Amino acid sequence: MVEIRRVNFLAARFVAGNTAEEALDAVHRLNEVGLKASLDVLGEETRSLEQAQAAVREYSQLLGWIGASGLDCNVSVKLTQLGLSLGDGPARDNLLKILDAAAKHGNFVRIDMEGSAYTQRTLDLFHGVFESRKNVGVVIQAYLRRSASDVKELNRAGARVRLCKGAYKEPPSVAFQEKEEVNRSYDALALELLERGNYPGFATHDDARIEAILAAAAGRGIPNDRFEFQMLYGVRKPRWTDLKSRGFNVRIYVPYGTHWLPYYYRRIRERKENLIFALRSVLGR
Ligand code: FDA
Repeated sequence: MVEIRRVNFLAARFVAGNTAEEALDAVHRLNEVGLKASLDVLGEETRSLEQAQAAVREYSQLLGWIGASGLDCNVSVKLTQLGLSLGDGPARDNLLKILDAAAKHGNFVRIDMEGSAYTQRTLDLFHGVFESRKNVGVVIQAYLRRSASDVKELNRAGARVRLCKGAYKEPPSVAFQEKEEVNRSYDALALELLERGNYPGFATHDDARIEAILAAAAGRGIPNDRFEFQMLYGVRKPRWTDLKSRGFNVRIYVPYGTHWLPYYYRRIRERKENLIFALRSVLGR
């Protein structure tokens, strides 16, 4: 028990709390300084229908609370949390329930992108529901070799895309392995989304990527309200307010809940220093 609390304390940098109440408080504080948010109920690779249905209930309740409080906040969901590993049918039905709960409050749902084993199924499911529900968007990972053609198809459909580099360990057959290649891919996809996308969300903390987007938008006369930047709760906070004060939309991805371990592990993988900070805190140094 002590161990769990300790690790939980370590994850607290990246996770807004165990409960929706704590997470909504965090969103309120972000909104106060003009930052938008996307709430994520932590959970993935759900193995039972009951767990997937519990996630639907949590998201539906959350969307009600967001609506009632008037917060500037949408939600992000993972399809494996909604039952994708049990089959496309349950994941689709559960997603539709969340989309309808969001629509009641004029809100929007982003489907996070998970490991490459799920990419095609996630995109198929997205395109299927997008035909009848427009309050949904998806994520593209720049490290995947296939992403240029996926972005073109999503732009043609008029879909809202969040572009990120990609956080899962993928083999060379599907993903670029070198940082430079991923960055080149990110810049090219960002340009495509700026020119032909529907309010893209640029999810990155990488200054070079951000400045390339700003230069491309300025060079093409694309107004600030046609795109947004997105960053993770607990990562590069001064950059959030810097971009906001320069007149850009910034959204912070705010996860909460008790299933924080895989999310925390991905944050450690992105930046090894996070592990050193974590170990120092445990050792009390
Ligand atoms: P990069 O990793 O090169 O980092 C640039 C700089 O940012 C670093 O030098 C450091 O200063 C800082 N930084 C980055 N990560 C940090 C960390 N963990 N701790 C501290 N500092 C850090 N991935 C995915 O596969 N599917 C998804 O759906 C999403 N969704 C998503 C939403 C949002 C809003 C963000 C910001 C990111 C995601 N990601 C994601 C994660 C993304 O794919 C990627 O792993 C991280 O954003 C890190 O990549 P950067 O673009 O920040 O660049």
